[in-house]
Amino acid sequence: MDNFLDLLRNDHHQFDQGKLEDHVGNEPFSLLSKWLREAIDKQVSEPNAMSISTIGLDGYPHSRIVYLKELLEEGIVFYTNYSSSKGNDIEVNPKVQALIFWSGLERQIRIIGNVEKVPEEMSDTYFQSRPWGSKIGAWASHQSKELESRKELEDRVHELALKYPNEVPRPPHWGGYLIKPIEIEFWQGRPSRLHDRIVFELNGSNWKIYRKNP
Ligand SMILES: Cc1cc2nc3c(=O)[nH]c(=O)nc-3n(C[C@H](O)[C@H](O)[C@H](O)COP(=O)(O)O)c2cc1C
Repeated sequence: MDNFLDLLRNDHHQFDQGKLEDHVGNEPFSLLSKWLREAIDKQVSEPNAMSISTIGLDGYPHSRIVYLKELLEEGIVFYTNYSSSKGNDIEVNPKVQALIFWSGLERQIRIIGNVEKVPEEMSDTYFQSRPWGSKIGAWASHQSKELESRKELEDRVHELALKYPNEVPRPPHWGGYLIKPIEIEFWQGRPSRLHDRIVFELNGSNWKIYRKNP
């Protein structure tokens, strides 16, 4: 079969990104925040989209994209339906991997960590900052459950719109998860596949920092 994907070979050398060591502190959050800012400044498409992998009840990893919404001192936050497939996976096994890829910057970040729900007030504040339609959507969507038809969903939206024409309370099953990293790897594309990989591994309360072969 003609392998048209061969055409995509990329030598990762468009940018001289400088030496990664120049920006590595003694904890990973400063670099994570710096890279996120750069992705936003350089107008990367969907700069805060990340893949979250959970371990499913079937033993397989399950991945999906969510938005990274907050960067805290202890980790990163995303919002979702706690009764979704990912929520059920996390309930049983709160270990996840987050993956961010910014193709325009030739950068990838992998975050392995333990998840916990954020305080309810934090979920309330974020929920109330969303547009009315998204708030209704959070009630209407029984995320990950089988849906009989598109109409079933639209009917629910209609009913909820009548019920909550103005103020919409946060559904109790909707809120934030905080991923507290135990390991973060920063990957930066360099020429000839000699990429940089800098790993921060939590060791007690300190971060062990080292390079990995590309
Ligand atoms: C760009 C993008 C952003 C998304 N952001 C979120 C999000 O922040 N929260 C969320 O629950 N789902 C988000 N989704 C939808 C998820 O990928 C997924 O379909 C949904 O959460 C259900 O996943 P699950 O059935 O594995 O729990 C996003 C999808 C895309 C493509």
